[in-house]
Amino acid sequence: MKKIFPIVSAIAMTVFTHTAIANDCDKGERVVKLSHVTGGTTHPKVVASNNFAARVNKELNGIMCVEVYPNSTLFGDSKELEALLLGDVQLLAPSLSKFGSYTKKLGVFDLPFIFKDMDAGMRFTNSKVGKDLLNSMDKVGFVGLGYWMSGMKYFSANKPLLVPSDAKGLKFRVQTSDVAKAMIAAMGASPQPMAFAEVYGALQTKVVDGQENTWSNIYTKKFFEVQDGVTETNHQMLAYLFMTSKEFLDSLKPDVRAKFLKIADEVTQEANNSVKAAEAENRANILKAGGKIRTLNNEQRKAWIDAMKPVWKQFEDEIGKDVIEAAAKS
Ligand code: SIN
Repeated sequence: MKKIFPIVSAIAMTVFTHTAIANDCDKGERVVKLSHVTGGTTHPKVVASNNFAARVNKELNGIMCVEVYPNSTLFGDSKELEALLLGDVQLLAPSLSKFGSYTKKLGVFDLPFIFKDMDAGMRFTNSKVGKDLLNSMDKVGFVGLGYWMSGMKYFSANKPLLVPSDAKGLKFRVQTSDVAKAMIAAMGASPQPMAFAEVYGALQTKVVDGQENTWSNIYTKKFFEVQDGVTETNHQMLAYLFMTSKEFLDSLKPDVRAKFLKIADEVTQEANNSVKAAEAENRANILKAGGKIRTLNNEQRKAWIDAMKPVWKQFEDEIGKDVIEAAAKS
């Protein structure tokens, strides 16, 4: 069985504390690797991953042992999905914006302003259409165990952003999503897809001018330190697919599989119940650490919505009008 303990790690150009799990699986236990790209101690994905490992390691003690690899220390964005199919890792929780090579349907989560807030996003993920999307890549061999919410997203840049025209001509780091790229282009800015692990360095060296992310990522990765400020745009929701491979799941004995799935479900519920508090805590942490947050008035917010709304139409065919309507209705 593994224990969770805090360690200090120097990664990229920043130093921060994160939790890791000691490599002390007992002989005979099946080692299961959970890899993800986020860090810090207060990040919802870090907390959920560690909770999942702690539960499995206690309740399936002697049978299965989960090792958590945070901060892209095992696999980063570009390799993790391939690694899952190859059996080099068994559990991941990638952002829903990173599946474009496998399915276009999940692009619905990236449509700007489709969810008013995280509650609307959760209503959608709990709906029939949302639940069906969990299995949108079963032909590839991916199994969705649950959606882990992360937070609404906000733009930051090396200059104040209050209306979309403030972003004109700037370069913004985005995830690999085509929808995100189109959204940045609709602002008259230039999208630069890049792995999460490279964002801090790219902002610091001005390879890009800005980025978009949740309070938890902006705080735990210290993006606010190398930006003029963050604007509370609430333009998208970031959520993760807690996932495994069909091959791994099929390899478990039925009773072990049932316990494993029950723990995954309970940890998912617990994570989503506490995500808003984690986001609020990390927003406050940014302010405490000297970061600047700008809010929008109604007119400024409307200007962002108007600039980005045409993106929906662009992706209607590949995402599906029915899926977009179900998400918008939630
Ligand atoms: C993550 O939260 O897993 C990463 C999000 C990003 O790449 O911006």
